[in-house]
Amino acid sequence: MRTDHLIRTFVEYYEERGHRRITGSTLLPPPGDPVLFTTSGMHPLTPYLEGQPHPLGKRLVNVQRCLRTTDLDEVGDATHLTVFEMLGTWSLGDYGGPRSLDWGYGLLTEGLGIAPGLLHATVYAGDDRTGTGPDTDSLELWQGLGVPVERTVEDNWWPKSVDDDGGDGPVGPCGPDSEIFFWSGDGPPQSTPTGDDRWVEVWNHVTMTHRRHGDGSLVPLPQRNVDTGLGLERLAALLQGKQSVFACDVFDPWRRLVPPLWPLEEPELRLVSDHLRSAVVVLGDGVRPSNTGRGYVLRRLVRRVLTVLWRQDASRSLGDLPEDLVRHTLDHFHQDARPADVLRTLLDEEQRFARLLERGRRVLARPGFQGPLSEEDFHYLHDTHGLPRDLVTSLREE
Ligand code: SER
Repeated sequence: MRTDHLIRTFVEYYEERGHRRITGSTLLPPPGDPVLFTTSGMHPLTPYLEGQPHPLGKRLVNVQRCLRTTDLDEVGDATHLTVFEMLGTWSLGDYGGPRSLDWGYGLLTEGLGIAPGLLHATVYAGDDRTGTGPDTDSLELWQGLGVPVERTVEDNWWPKSVDDDGGDGPVGPCGPDSEIFFWSGDGPPQSTPTGDDRWVEVWNHVTMTHRRHGDGSLVPLPQRNVDTGLGLERLAALLQGKQSVFACDVFDPWRRLVPPLWPLEEPELRLVSDHLRSAVVVLGDGVRPSNTGRGYVLRRLVRRVLTVLWRQDASRSLGDLPEDLVRHTLDHFHQDARPADVLRTLLDEEQRFARLLERGRRVLARPGFQGPLSEEDFHYLHDTHGLPRDLVTSLREE
């Protein structure tokens, strides 16, 4: 099943169940949002999850493009992408979590033909520290459907209560979630989602019960909402019998057109395809490279690509990218930027980076930088010469 068909099947299934489709068109969050890019389908819906009535009613469905930089270093594995699409559904104070899970199960098994034996669920076990009880309703739903279910604490609260740096999780609506996993291994399913990473998470159903405040406290929300998000490329890959998101149909043109241009090993091909595709989408949404904010994310993506490409051959240029590849991506995301303009910006950025590298090599050739570099050296090279640490490190390895 191709991704376009998958999107249609998903949206129609929920429209038949009273959901209205909302647009999930841009990566740029609404004004006033502190986050640089939309990171999940629910992101633009925050005011409605907190109680404001939505003009289209209480049941919504959409396809939202998202960008996550937190996963940048994981790109290249089988499941992480920088820009990806999330299929989402919402109940704004309407039906509850068990109905959402039941419909989700129906879509996956009857609608999309997934063998029920390849599914596993997880549910919230409750946490005395926050005074939030176990999600018994979801547990019973899964047990009734005969789907194996695992109980966890940290992994089944969305967004996580503790962030990656050990601080409180983000401010905003949150609650217990139930995640649906798909078995991606060759043999019969084994173990549980936390015990074997061949269980791939595809769909997260969050019952938003609380709002997290700046001091970390949880306050119950006036209405209970359900927020679900399904990773489109992950599910497409699994349905297409592929072991990685990079092998699903979304990446067909990249796999066809990039290798003849630049012969790359699989991990590099994945990184280059992911980052360039993401850069095209970000450019298509109107962002331009810069040294801060969104523009800097874009700049980093392009520089990471060039670092990989030039490691093997310094004559490789983004100007050689076929226009068709850029057009295919812009068309997929319904963006009306002109492919030639996108390529022009990528090429300008490449030239700027080439000049920076040249300066870096000159500076690093100075006698003061021949031995091991101190933290102070790294700061100086960054602040005075605009040379980021990873760039300095790779220049020193040349
Ligand atoms: N907000 C949840 C997530 O991003 C479900 O949509 O996983």
